[in-house]
Amino acid sequence: MNHDLVEKNIGLMIVFIIIAISFGALVELVPLAFLKETTEPIKGLKPLNAMQLTGRDIYIREGCTVCHSQMVRPLRSETERYGHYSVAGEGVYEHPFLWGSKRTGPDLARVGERYSNEWHRAHLFNPRDVVPESIMPSYPWLFNNDIDGEMVGKKMAALRKVGVPYTDADIEGAADQVAGMKEIDAVIAYLQQLGTLLKYKR
Ligand code: HEC
Repeated sequence: MNHDLVEKNIGLMIVFIIIAISFGALVELVPLAFLKETTEPIKGLKPLNAMQLTGRDIYIREGCTVCHSQMVRPLRSETERYGHYSVAGEGVYEHPFLWGSKRTGPDLARVGERYSNEWHRAHLFNPRDVVPESIMPSYPWLFNNDIDGEMVGKKMAALRKVGVPYTDADIEGAADQVAGMKEIDAVIAYLQQLGTLLKYKR
């Protein structure tokens, strides 16, 4: 009887739908914020150093995320190709996450140490030099651009505010670490550590 009322009054219906969806979302999402598995860093996880952090921001700026995900799903086809599936504890210092879903190119969550630095240099300068059929764009300007050293320390200080455990020494030493380096060095430093903490033994 009362259900008639809801079915005939669209305003009321909308209110109830919102309540139902909100309740469902809360039940699913709130526990995740308190589970150890999703909030604790995995063993050995350290915040990115000054070079790696700089590389990560260049990775975002250049839109690498548009074609590359960083999320190995727990499916056989994925783990056979990329390695151990991604776990939440690997990403607790990531702000923002770069999981993504669009895969024009391969997933990069575990690309660290898969290729040499020289391979990455050649590949980013012109992907076709090492992978003839590649449709990935070239990034030659990374080889000329200097890094703004002062900015790196400020970024670390900002990340510390949201819980990334950078020390004063990390922040003070940041500018020195990137001094004289080019953007390409930073991007490669970032790529080479991706996913290296968690690997299936081969
Ligand atoms: C337009 C899409 C596109 C963009 C943007 C793009 N890539 Fe790629 N990437 C690809 C494709 C396609 C491949 C596979 C062919 C190849 O290896 O070049 C690839 C391959 C790679 C590989 C080798 C992965 C492996 O497991 O073999 C790396 C590393 C990589 N890209 C890094 C980057 C970085 C860093 C950026 C940003 C500076 C970037 N890509 C931007 C499409 C893209």
